Amino acid sequence: MRQIILIVGGVVVAVVFVVVGFTFKQTNKEELALMSRLQSRTQIIADSLAESIEPSYRKYATSSVQQVIDRITNNERVAGLGVFDSKGMPVAVSNSLPKETLQELLVARVMDSNVPEGIFVKSGEEMMYVFADPIHDDERVVGALLVVQNAQYINDTLWNIWRDNMIRFFLVTFLFLFAIFLMAYSVFIKPLSRMAESVKAVRRGDVDTEEPEGGHGLFSPLSTEISKITHSLKRARLVASEEARLRLEKLDTPWTAERLKEFFKSYLKGRQIFVVSNREPYIHKKNKNKITWQIPASGMVTALEPIMEACGGMWLAHGSGDADRQTVDDRDMVKVPPDDPGYLLKRIWLTEEEIERYYNGFSNEALWPICLMAHNRPLFREPDWRMYRQVNGKFARSLLSEIKSVERPLILVQDYHLALLPRMIKNSRPDAEIGFFWHIPWPSAETFSICPWRKEILDGMLGADILGFHTQQHCNNFLDTVSKEIESIVNFEEFSITRGDHTTYVKPFPISVAFPNNGKAGKAPKSALMEKYKLNTEFFGIGVDRMDYTKGIMEKLKGLEFFFSLYPEYQERFTFLQIAPPSREGVKKYREFNEDVTREAERINKKFEKNGWKPVVLHKEHCSYEEIYPLYRAAHVCLITSLSDGMNLVAKEYVAARSDEVGVLILSQFAGASRELRGGALILNPYSAEETAKTIFEALTMPVSEQYRRMKKMRDTVKNYNVYRWAAEFLKSLSNLS
Ligand code: F6P
Repeated sequence: MRQIILIVGGVVVAVVFVVVGFTFKQTNKEELALMSRLQSRTQIIADSLAESIEPSYRKYATSSVQQVIDRITNNERVAGLGVFDSKGMPVAVSNSLPKETLQELLVARVMDSNVPEGIFVKSGEEMMYVFADPIHDDERVVGALLVVQNAQYINDTLWNIWRDNMIRFFLVTFLFLFAIFLMAYSVFIKPLSRMAESVKAVRRGDVDTEEPEGGHGLFSPLSTEISKITHSLKRARLVASEEARLRLEKLDTPWTAERLKEFFKSYLKGRQIFVVSNREPYIHKKNKNKITWQIPASGMVTALEPIMEACGGMWLAHGSGDADRQTVDDRDMVKVPPDDPGYLLKRIWLTEEEIERYYNGFSNEALWPICLMAHNRPLFREPDWRMYRQVNGKFARSLLSEIKSVERPLILVQDYHLALLPRMIKNSRPDAEIGFFWHIPWPSAETFSICPWRKEILDGMLGADILGFHTQQHCNNFLDTVSKEIESIVNFEEFSITRGDHTTYVKPFPISVAFPNNGKAGKAPKSALMEKYKLNTEFFGIGVDRMDYTKGIMEKLKGLEFFFSLYPEYQERFTFLQIAPPSREGVKKYREFNEDVTREAERINKKFEKNGWKPVVLHKEHCSYEEIYPLYRAAHVCLITSLSDGMNLVAKEYVAARSDEVGVLILSQFAGASRELRGGALILNPYSAEETAKTIFEALTMPVSEQYRRMKKMRDTVKNYNVYRWAAEFLKSLSNLS
């Protein structure tokens, strides 16, 4: 479209030049013709005036001269006539003669030179032609006569020519633009967009045809080439799908997006998936005059997004971006990923008060601290709890309206924000198969017993058919909590809970990342990033955490301080980049934590900085995968110091990014990932600054062969249990129930 506007704009500018040039020439010609006609008419009037007055003038018969002037003035419709004596004094003038000083000058000049002369002058608003002719007695000049003509009609005629030409120009341009647009639309835009749509459909495997639509006429050579490519693509897809189908039988081969898609088709017969979470996978934001989008820093999104891309379906979540409303349709839906849509995102709108009480309050000040157990006292407020129930109801209503005509919908509810949702859905739609995944730890029964609404929460969760946690320990804690808190039959052998006539199975599903990651590893040049973050030292380490007190960022900084004191030879040789995008800024504790971390990083930097080097680079902004992946690939060490963490997918992302099979992962013993990555990662207790310092030293001095052995082991683990397998196992458990 931009190109068409440019071409049309260029043509319009050229036409403007031509039209203006021609009009200019035409008006010049017309002006000359009109002026010359006026001059000769004036000359004739002057001659006839001279002839009529000369006899009377010689006899000084002033009254006769006056009569001649009045007669000619009436007959010829001139603006004025006058006769002047040899001193330039008026002998007789018409009443209408305009009083212009130039007239006297002209009369004097004509008598001196004895040559008639005419000039165009402006008189008030009008243009006049003033003509003077000497009067002779024999050969002697004895006076002069003056003829004044109104020449304004010349200007008017020229102005009319300009106006008419411009109107003609605008009309023609408008018709021309309209015709161009219609032609461009039907000849180029429409066939091209139909071709693009059909190529996209072939690429995504949505249709069988190989011939792209709209590829006729002008585009037929292009269409032939595209159909050859789509033919090859279709064949490749058939082979891949056949391989994936065969691999389904052999569970020990790696899971891929393709294999998950195949599994979905054959086991679940293409049933529709509905994911429900608080956090949305794509946030649209206003950026100056543009709308941009962002993938939020969320382990839940990291894990679920590739699954939705592979299987399609609908994801319902809170629309939290300031441009979210501008990007949805009238059903509050938008197709995502924005650059290659594969599934639908339905946004649910929350009021300020709902966000404050349901999200900031009950979810993040009550449930988060009680489950994460990171020494932060949970805050239980009755209005927060009421709002939590209310907002869970809002999500339930939105989901129920989407599944009303779907038989046995598959519903995947995510996380602690929506604990009441499974029961609400099950009560209205007993045929729905509901999987609920709890992305954070589940505490001991004693810890959870302090929650005043524990029974309602447990009952809400038990509306699910499958309840997943990251680890067996969290499953055990949950079974224990239920057995102590609510009436139910808890089967510790089968890991199931029966309440009323409904049974929920509780199983560990250690969540993971996309590996291989479908080409999403960023391509940003490494050196530019190193420059940007001032990482041009011999070694650098990386940490990527939401700005959350459970991530142990303060402990990490203490550990780094200890490291630089204990091993001063690493000063100016090692830099640590901590990426910490702000999180949950509506919660006071998080705001305070942000300030504490900033102060602490500044203090440590002041203590050690020299020659422009600073030990810690604290980057408190959101970073895209494209930016983080090259940094993962270049970092000598990745340091994760969570004080409590369900899984921690940063650990697995770092491992997935290291296709060079070196680099060292240092991982907190309190992150769920430490169970799977033990033997590869260096495991530490982040509460000990000395241990952190020594582990960093161990990482930086680790021989490459040892790095390779460890990294290889971790990569095999993540590859073998990637998020596609996680999804397949979760969905399989869910569908096996029926
Ligand atoms: O990974 C745990 C988690 O609770 C996610 O479920 C959540 O989306 C993420 O942390 C980030 O938190 P928030 O959604 O509040 O920004």
